[in-house]
Amino acid sequence: MTSATARKTKQGLSGVFPVPGDKSISHRSLIFAALAEGVTEIYGLLESDDVLHTADALQKMGILIEKEETSEGRVWRVTGGKLTSPKEPLYLGNSGTSARLLAGVIAGQGVTACITGDESLSRRPMARVTEPLSKMGAKFRQENEDTALPLWIEGVEKPRAITYNSPVASAQVKSAILLAGLNAEGETCVREPGSSRDHTERMLEAFGIDVETGAAYGGGSEAALKGGKKLVSPGRIDVPADPSSAAFPAVAALITKKSFVVLPAVSMNPTRAGLYKILKKMGADIELKNETMLGGEPVADLHIRAGEVLKGCTVPAVYVPAMIDEYPILAVAASVAEGITRMEGLAELRVKESNRLEKIASGLKACGVRTEIDGDDLIVYGRGNLSVMGGVTIETGFDHRIAMSFLVLGGVTREPITIDRADAIATSFPTFIKEMNKRGCDIRLASEQAHAFGR
Ligand code: S3P
Repeated sequence: MTSATARKTKQGLSGVFPVPGDKSISHRSLIFAALAEGVTEIYGLLESDDVLHTADALQKMGILIEKEETSEGRVWRVTGGKLTSPKEPLYLGNSGTSARLLAGVIAGQGVTACITGDESLSRRPMARVTEPLSKMGAKFRQENEDTALPLWIEGVEKPRAITYNSPVASAQVKSAILLAGLNAEGETCVREPGSSRDHTERMLEAFGIDVETGAAYGGGSEAALKGGKKLVSPGRIDVPADPSSAAFPAVAALITKKSFVVLPAVSMNPTRAGLYKILKKMGADIELKNETMLGGEPVADLHIRAGEVLKGCTVPAVYVPAMIDEYPILAVAASVAEGITRMEGLAELRVKESNRLEKIASGLKACGVRTEIDGDDLIVYGRGNLSVMGGVTIETGFDHRIAMSFLVLGGVTREPITIDRADAIATSFPTFIKEMNKRGCDIRLASEQAHAFGR
């Protein structure tokens, strides 16, 4: 357990800020490579705790994964093959994506396995995947009545193809079902009420599987594939930078006077870029340069400059799937904006790594920002030119995005902000503190502070 404290950034952030590989794409590149014929070389893989848990689980199911240093950086080499039932439980730490996607893989590949996780993951809803996967023929058994994990999964070699109407727009649910559908006879189709991130669909195409996507009859969107076709490795995957991680230095630069940062090759996939649209609507100076494609995803260099104080706005619920992980940092931007920001339809935030709706509201209130939860909406009354007080310790609930958001806020508050669990940040962005400090921020781990004060 390590706490960390952010103090006022004195001169603004500056320089080129390397953002690590996309978490969603990193998980998927390992999983698809494991299921495919041939060897896949993955460049730019995010080496964070969550992704390493996926790699470890695949290795425990008999997949060969090696890494090597090359002139182009580190490459992860995955040799696809038949998955086998692991001898020990698969521990997935804090990673919801590992748990949901691997549940789909196990269910559809005839594997029997037990998945476990940390306290937070064990409490997160798994019924959203076990229900459709049961319809496809897999069997599930919860070890404890009141926690979703540990969960025993007995997969089938030939799952039933289904059409599933998901009550939530969730890429994890959609991906779990499509992954199980790869071995099914006939067409597996997932309909959802919004358009969740489409990395699974894009990557399946790269591995030679046709996925039909479009608007669902009656609203929402759907994705469908025909089972029974073997995935074939494209040979190489390049992982673009993660727009959800880029959001932290981006907002830090926007709210800290005299800042100018460049975030290279960030995925600007339209199913992920909601935050950047909203920030622009709030008046942010964000320019997209060098727009191109990388690893089947649109990417751009983000040039971000601090300017006028941002203006509060209303964020309609249709934005939720395209920026689901960005609400904590958007709320931080809103807290120093002028006027009110109302973020609508945030029910899903209650079942993330922590109850994010509650964590954002209580954290901002503790820092002296008027914040309200109205049903599923979050309302932040921006302080504008009146600075935010800070001077508190935030309980993160071991949530990486809550931790990083409040460290960003601590760079502009009157008094420093401490977060209780800096170790949570390794879930998605292990280099965050080091890179922020290199660009002008002052974030110190408790151990470093003790050292600085000669204790
Ligand atoms: C993810 C999907 C999102 C997101 C999570 C990663 C993925 O969850 O919150 O961090 O990689 O599929 P839902 O799609 O379930 O909302």
